[in-house]
Amino acid sequence: MSAAPVGVIRGDKDGVLQAPQQTPQDPRLLGRDVRRIAFSETELRARVAELGADITAAYPEGDLLVLGLLKGSFVFLADLVREIRLPLHVDFLVASSYGESTVSSGDVKLVYDPETVLEGKHILLVEDIVDSGKTLHKLMHLLSGRAPRSIEICALLHKRIAKELAHPVRFVGFDAPNEFLVGYGLDHAENFRHLPYVASLR
Ligand code: PRP
Repeated sequence: MSAAPVGVIRGDKDGVLQAPQQTPQDPRLLGRDVRRIAFSETELRARVAELGADITAAYPEGDLLVLGLLKGSFVFLADLVREIRLPLHVDFLVASSYGESTVSSGDVKLVYDPETVLEGKHILLVEDIVDSGKTLHKLMHLLSGRAPRSIEICALLHKRIAKELAHPVRFVGFDAPNEFLVGYGLDHAENFRHLPYVASLR
């Protein structure tokens, strides 16, 4: 008797045919295999709530301007601001640094400049991931020139390999492995930003 083809159909001891136990492929992954889930949806939710509480405690006067760096920060920022119990405004920046390359050129330009006046504001710059740190280094220099009252960085993930970032990242969600990560805003060729978890792909 030949063995049943793997993954097709099996009969149990009572002779009842049952569907095989298979992990359904997440259609959002476009057929790619997850090497590992670096940060699950549950872990992200819990840590974002803690960050929101830390930020709330750090700005007793309120009047915060949360500046999200697009596109990567959009999911994190949307969850984070709902955990901050303060009056605040939200605006966005779009910077170009990587172009077609996978390595930051370090030549950071503002493609979209926030309409909000930055002078005199407590600015919280929100970033999805600090990799080489070149993007944030250049942006901090640029934004500091606009005379904000204070400026701090909140990053969901920090690879801790940035050599060029002069300004410390005050609020960090997680130290991140030095792997190519996608999900929760992070992309590969614009895919996977909508995954509710952070994963590295095979
Ligand atoms: C990614 C990421 C950070 C930056 C980090 O942005 O969102 O902004 O790179 O890299 P660095 O620390 O080496 O400068 P990307 O330019 O890919 O744009 P995106 O946010 O639209 O994905």
